[in-house]
Amino acid sequence: MSSRKILVTAALPYANGQIHIGHLVEYLQTDIWVRFQKLRGHRCLYICADDTHGTAIMISAKKEGISEEAFIARTHGEHQQDFAQFDIEFDNYGSTNSPENRELCGEFWTQIRQAGLVKEKDVEQLFDPEANTFLADRFVRGTCPKCASPNQPGDNCSACGAHYTPIELIDPVSTLSGATPEVRSEKHLFIELEKLHGFLDEWTQSGAHLQPEVANYLKGHFLHEPLRDWDISRPAPYFGFEIPDFPGHYWYVWFDAPIGYMASTKQWCAKHGESFDDWWRGDTAEIHHFIGKDITYFHTLFWPGMLKTAGFALPTKVHIHGFLTVDGAKMSKSVGTFVAARTYLDHLDPAYLRYYYASKLTPRVDDLDLNLEEFATKVNADLVGKVVNLASRTARFAGATGLSETYPEDGGLFAHAAAQSEEIAAAYEACDYNKAMRMILALADRANPYVETKQPWTLKKDPDKQGELQDVCTVALNLFRQLAVYLAPVLPRLARQTGELLGDPIVRWDQAQTPLVGTPVGKFEHMLQRVEPKKVEAMIEASKEEAAAAEAAAPSAHNDSDEALQAEPLADECTFDDFTKVDLRVARVVAAEQVPEARKLLKLTLSLGGDERRTVFAGIKAAYEPEQLVGRLVVFVANLAPRQMKFGLSEGMVVAAGPGGADVFLLNVDEGAVPGQRVH
Ligand code: 2FM
Ligand code: ZN
Repeated sequence: MSSRKILVTAALPYANGQIHIGHLVEYLQTDIWVRFQKLRGHRCLYICADDTHGTAIMISAKKEGISEEAFIARTHGEHQQDFAQFDIEFDNYGSTNSPENRELCGEFWTQIRQAGLVKEKDVEQLFDPEANTFLADRFVRGTCPKCASPNQPGDNCSACGAHYTPIELIDPVSTLSGATPEVRSEKHLFIELEKLHGFLDEWTQSGAHLQPEVANYLKGHFLHEPLRDWDISRPAPYFGFEIPDFPGHYWYVWFDAPIGYMASTKQWCAKHGESFDDWWRGDTAEIHHFIGKDITYFHTLFWPGMLKTAGFALPTKVHIHGFLTVDGAKMSKSVGTFVAARTYLDHLDPAYLRYYYASKLTPRVDDLDLNLEEFATKVNADLVGKVVNLASRTARFAGATGLSETYPEDGGLFAHAAAQSEEIAAAYEACDYNKAMRMILALADRANPYVETKQPWTLKKDPDKQGELQDVCTVALNLFRQLAVYLAPVLPRLARQTGELLGDPIVRWDQAQTPLVGTPVGKFEHMLQRVEPKKVEAMIEASKEEAAAAEAAAPSAHNDSDEALQAEPLADECTFDDFTKVDLRVARVVAAEQVPEARKLLKLTLSLGGDERRTVFAGIKAAYEPEQLVGRLVVFVANLAPRQMKFGLSEGMVVAAGPGGADVFLLNVDEGAVPGQRVH
């Protein structure tokens, strides 16, 4: 088979978060595919980078009081360390905030402008005057414009399901600062994707660029109607690249992110003296993108459209996988199933997860469930019980003699496993790792009875059977080695240890075709321990604790000043008995009137439930209109001695905060409380 040139990417992780076991589905799926291609003798590059731009990074950096550059430099190091410890081996791990990326973005931009695809439009967006930033939908909450449910997200209502823009929300609040956002109108640049409709129809629906279900999804959801213009600019302040011919505006993070694949390749080319165009122009190289289903639109419509317009090579295939669930549910911080890569590594061997995910991955877009019980039993039964066991039960008997000079009669076991090579390879190639693992384990199921029948531990005791013992070990270790070759993309450490044991590094797929004979056998070192369920539990427990600690440590979104506290320092301590002397009650305002002669007062009639009524003169005239008050609940000091005032008797007091005048704020009583209830 002639050697292919294959460029492979996994989605660029955002620089504002840790790598977790959900991300690892993709990075492991891709790493396995790349290792497989390399083992087959193809030239294959695994390219990735951090996705560093956008509002979220600005906010995270600001919270920590450091620059965006310092923030992304730190995550860059952390991400690379996590990946390396999972044996995810990138050929280049770059950053979208690189000079190569800025330059390539400019190149794309020139071409897209020249093709007449850019148009300018005014966009109204919410702006947070305190955080000094435009607000993405997820940073706004407010009352649903349709059903009036309070505290709903910026894009759709969890109560009635309505879709809206954040501008339509009633009483919107910025979740960043608690401020009321302003509507601001700004110019944005759009790419008219519709002008590429014909090309995208053709590209998505023909050839094997996409899984069939993905091609159908695009046809049914997007391509059956005109494609929407794509908003690719953001006004300052924004962390990203400024658009050269539109000062004060930046490319939206999703414009420069996929270009980051190319920028990272460019860095690799510079380091290795290779031509960038050989990988990204013409048809000398295949390009494979591995992504999750949530970013399908970007990679199957925008990205091919951009590549086509700028004259670069189009993806050979976009491989799309589903989401990770744990024990059948979405990963959850409070349940402890939102497990950071780091936390996993503190408790468990990365080989377990590599194998477990491989055993569940198929070429389909389905979600993948990590069942924690199955995780332990499967790794123990398959890897420890069936694969490593072949070596651990025989290697120590072969140390003294090495392997036999000729390969012994084995009833066709080696030949059978060798003959499966292309079918297993085809399963890897098609990303059907589930099938590949099943086939490999079926070979282990044939090999183990051989060892059990031959009983090398019994042969060992009989001085006349030492030749037979050597032959049995030669067969068992060769069958084991075949499995190690076939599993090498998934379990690179096991492959390395096997190479060391038998003095022949595993570097090629076709090493499974020829048995090793006449070579020494090294000392058997421990290869893989059983999964201990209590370590899995400890990992979940640790994840839970980390989530709780992070929540407790999170700086509040509200950056409150200490002005009020300074103006009125805390009072002297009082006893609980002192406190209970004050009888605070929930009351409803049933009438509210102006007191014409009084500058500051409103007259309130309060109900304590039933027929109990109280009259109160409250100094809230500058802050409230009477009609705002009728019907609402307030907190009332019920046992305050009545006070005779010029306008009548005041029978208590309504509780409020604030310095006075217009800045008086009545305390709210949450729904559910009823008049007459005591406040403790
Ligand atoms: O969804 C994400 O996590 C993005 N950071 C993926 C970017 S992939 C690419 F296009 F850069
Ligand atoms: Zn609603």
